[in-house]
Amino acid sequence: MPIPYVNLTKQAESQKKEILDLLNRIIKKGQFVGGYEIDKFEKNICKLINVKHCVALNSGTDALTLGLHLIGVKKGDEVITTPNSFIASAAAIVHLGAVPIFVDICNDGNIDPKDLIKKISKKTKAIMPVHLSGRPCKMDKIISISKKYKIPIIEDAAQAIGTKFKNKFVGTFGKVGCFSAHPLKNLNAMGDSGYLVTDDKIIANKIKLLRNHGIKNRNDITDFGYVSRMDNFQAGILNLRLKKLKSIIAKRRTNAKLYFQNLKKLKEIKLPYEEKNQFNSFHTFIILANKRDKLKNYLEKKKISTAIHYPKLIFDQKAYTNKFKKINSKHYPNSKYYVSNILTLPINEFITKNEIKKISNEIINFYNFINAKNSRQHF
Ligand SMILES: Cc1ncc(COP(=O)(O)O)c(C=O)c1O
Repeated sequence: MPIPYVNLTKQAESQKKEILDLLNRIIKKGQFVGGYEIDKFEKNICKLINVKHCVALNSGTDALTLGLHLIGVKKGDEVITTPNSFIASAAAIVHLGAVPIFVDICNDGNIDPKDLIKKISKKTKAIMPVHLSGRPCKMDKIISISKKYKIPIIEDAAQAIGTKFKNKFVGTFGKVGCFSAHPLKNLNAMGDSGYLVTDDKIIANKIKLLRNHGIKNRNDITDFGYVSRMDNFQAGILNLRLKKLKSIIAKRRTNAKLYFQNLKKLKEIKLPYEEKNQFNSFHTFIILANKRDKLKNYLEKKKISTAIHYPKLIFDQKAYTNKFKKINSKHYPNSKYYVSNILTLPINEFITKNEIKKISNEIINFYNFINAKNSRQHF
């Protein structure tokens, strides 16, 4: 039986009755844009991660863009972030006319606080750490830099709902925290959705206006806003799935432990172990693997789907090079090493213990085969 990387059909099938009941309730009320499920969702998130305000939006990208805008990022400003992320982190910066300034990563794949200090300039308007794969950034160090240089933090926590650093939820460290609820996320809608959290009432209220054309009330429009609302149906799906989030993260953490047990002796790969103070929600399980591409092909032949998050650094994407001066990746040694060695293994909540055993065994078989071939070549 093939082992898929994710199983969204299985997730939806397992909740079919609740989803159809939800749809029926929404049809009865006739509330499709805005509505009671959205209010409920915002309250649920505030309670879950202990933050004062949550604004439901139509995507994580809009959360980042509106968050940067409310922090005051404008044309010509610089925002510091990591090149090892999904394109949306940098796109949000570019959409405001600002310039993304990239920092190398640590061996955990996330922004390196030491390199971050070196990149601060008079133009730096914000710092955007990305909690990639559900692994928290070193927020204690990033907070001290932010305080020392008086530069606000906007957290890209798109992949990291439920992740904690020193027992505090990520997304709640900075001025604003931005989350995605895209179908592939641990807390996922059945379409595009995202949300922004903040303790700042002024920011929350302003974004609530901006997400809905800047409409204050029926007659007054105070700003030229956007169409960035979450649908009532998507909020309803998220409310349903929020009830399961804790157990989904627990299952992913159990799956990670199984991989750690099965693969710990393999010297050809590095595993994403949790460091002290980290609570990883394992949105993805990214290993660093020797002969990554050959391993990926081998697993594909064994009908095991894997992925690469992400195969190019942001500054090597055409979107960046078309607009900005080319960056030489030799100045980013860790990021450079990362992109050519990372491989994402399936870790979703539907995968079984036996499937993880099979994936692990196939990885071991691959390196046994490669090593045997190499030692034969020595004779
Ligand atoms: C790190 C990161 N930032 C931002 C986003 C953007 O979120 P969305 O797709 O909801 O716009 C994503 C989504 O995949 C992401 O992974």
